[in-house]
Amino acid sequence: MANVYKIGCMPGDGIGAEVIESAVAVLRACETKCGDFKLEFTDLPYGTAYYKQTGAYLPPDGLDTIRKFDAILFGAVGMPDVPDSVSLWGLLLAMRGPLQQYANLRPVKCLKSIVPAVRTAKPEDIDWVLVRENSEGEYAGQGGRSHRGFDWEVATELAIFTRHGARRILRYAFEIAQARPRKLLTVVSKSNAQRYGMVMWDEVALEVSKEFPDVKWDKMLVDAMTVRMVHKPETLDTIVGSNLHMDILSDLAAALAASIGIAPSANIDPTRQSPSMFEPVHGSAFDIMGKGIANPFGAVWSAAMMLDFLGEAKAGKMIMDAMDSCCEIGQTTGDLGGSLNTAQVTEALIKAINGY
Ligand code: NAI
Ligand code: MG
Repeated sequence: MANVYKIGCMPGDGIGAEVIESAVAVLRACETKCGDFKLEFTDLPYGTAYYKQTGAYLPPDGLDTIRKFDAILFGAVGMPDVPDSVSLWGLLLAMRGPLQQYANLRPVKCLKSIVPAVRTAKPEDIDWVLVRENSEGEYAGQGGRSHRGFDWEVATELAIFTRHGARRILRYAFEIAQARPRKLLTVVSKSNAQRYGMVMWDEVALEVSKEFPDVKWDKMLVDAMTVRMVHKPETLDTIVGSNLHMDILSDLAAALAASIGIAPSANIDPTRQSPSMFEPVHGSAFDIMGKGIANPFGAVWSAAMMLDFLGEAKAGKMIMDAMDSCCEIGQTTGDLGGSLNTAQVTEALIKAINGY
């Protein structure tokens, strides 16, 4: 009997819908080629159009609906006529927190024949896994505004770091580092200026490190980390940091390795009590949406991570190989230097998979 996986498919807004269509087509090709697992997709219509119709990004029973799936494939959320803070909190952050997807995994590497953005870096120098705390910190959602519109208006944005939250993400990052050949972890911090939450974060890192004597680790302040990523990429392997710090560093990492259009991510609940959610790092990309030219690799790579997470590593590798071979023969979208559109890249990926 083939394994059957129930996938909730949430394309969302803008290019999210365009790249998820591509990812689903590639997954279907992979399913047919492998023949030993089945994917049952259910379309979930949540996004800005749904919000405009109903007044909410997620219905009251939305999380219960989502919990029934084995995994969620998500595109992006955000449209020009809705404030970004409303759309992001209405949908994406409304899922990551309650589903306790506390680890956000963002692998970064140069696909075949892709040249890094930094002249002095070699493609093999960039092969990282970024681990982002995904449930608290600077995006804990606490704060408020008083005296709106007056000159004496006050706005607060409270970052919350718990010992429990720090411990579980740092432990997860040490585990990821331990499973990789170099067993190397860099803990990103800002404990010079942020002297409470980040100092506790550093203390917990030291405590957790004792459980992993075979992992070599060091600590970097986030500002200095940007410099190290650019000038000494080969000294890095697994990187862990807070919600905000890694949000920023992961866009930089993707740009260094070619383009934000290829960057994948997985919102993981390591306890597997809730489904994990797989999504490209990029957003709705207002400037190119509707043109059919978005790079689908970020979504397709996220789909490969989903297969890995579900236990179908062979199929996941097939997708990674297909992306490598498309890059090698220049069958890519413009952001990677090619001249194909989204549909043509999708066709090329499927052709590569069918050829295996
Ligand atoms: P963005 O990631 O949507 O776009 C940034 C730049 O990268 C744009 O120039 C865009 O054309 C380019 N780009 C992004 N993905 C690409 C792809 N697949 N192929 C080729 N080029 C690509 O970020 P931006 O402009 O800051 O945000 C736009 C909207 O998306 C906002 O509403 C924002 O809140 C939302 N957003 C949502 C995210 C999510 O749902 N996870 C993540 C980031 C932003
Ligand atoms: Mg971001």
